[in-house]
Amino acid sequence: MSKILAFTNQKGGVGKTTSTANIGAGLLRAGKRVLLVDLDPQANLSKGLGVVKAEKNVYGALLQEYPLKAYPAHGMGLIAGSPALSGFEKVKGDELDREFLLKELLEPIRGKFDYILLDCPPALGLVTLNAYACAQELYIPLEAQLYATDGLEMVLGLVSRVQRRLNPELIVGGIFFTRHDARKVLRRETAEQMRAQHPELVLNSFIRESIALGEAPHLGKDIFTYAPQSAGATDYQALVAEILTR
Ligand SMILES: Nc1ncnc2c1ncn2[C@@H]1O[C@H](COP(=O)(O)OP(=O)(O)OP(=O)(O)O)[C@@H](O)[C@H]1O
Ligand SMILES: [Mg+2]
Repeated sequence: MSKILAFTNQKGGVGKTTSTANIGAGLLRAGKRVLLVDLDPQANLSKGLGVVKAEKNVYGALLQEYPLKAYPAHGMGLIAGSPALSGFEKVKGDELDREFLLKELLEPIRGKFDYILLDCPPALGLVTLNAYACAQELYIPLEAQLYATDGLEMVLGLVSRVQRRLNPELIVGGIFFTRHDARKVLRRETAEQMRAQHPELVLNSFIRESIALGEAPHLGKDIFTYAPQSAGATDYQALVAEILTR
């Protein structure tokens, strides 16, 4: 039975998609069967893996227009995203059990994968609730900068509500810092402050600012094939090892 991990933060551009793609690739290298699910209307994860204009995406499957379709993506499976996801909340309105549609969709294929990674959109709406309702672990990438904590507290607040009402199994697997730049004093201080506030949640691994991480998806590659010697590859490798121990 697969473990479902969601990468989430309602703040945009913190590294959710970059982390989903590269942690997926790292887990694959560790011999795991991996499925990625692109839950963002921007569909950056799908684009970065070369799956553009997919005929069957997660939105249509959630609406039961067609069965779930996983596209091959460098040895992993990918369930494509779609701009239509931005209308999901409107379409589902106050339908009963609307928070459990993704869970139901993934249930029959959970035996086929060791890890299912969910790339959440930068919002705490119905799509994200669907992710929280079916995940076992949440991972929260954070850019260590001023106001980063505001976003974190909102995510943690939602997590405790979800734990009470939708998914008692859910835990925060960890918070990790992305785009880390040791030379920037403010970032260092924010990171240390966060570690003091949430010692049990902050992971040891962090991801440095690394140009290669931004370049790799434009060539449809993960960091391990694009730049195996880069800081990005070293850091994501360490993060994958840490996630595997949780
Ligand atoms: N460690 C890093 N070093 C350098 N660039 C990075 C790093 N992590 C992410 N980036 C770049 O920062 C941008 C935002 O990253 P990403 O798309 O992963 O964030 P996101 O949280 O998924 O954003 P969104 O909220 O819009 O979905 C991208 O251009 C990505 O290539
Ligand atoms: Mg993203």
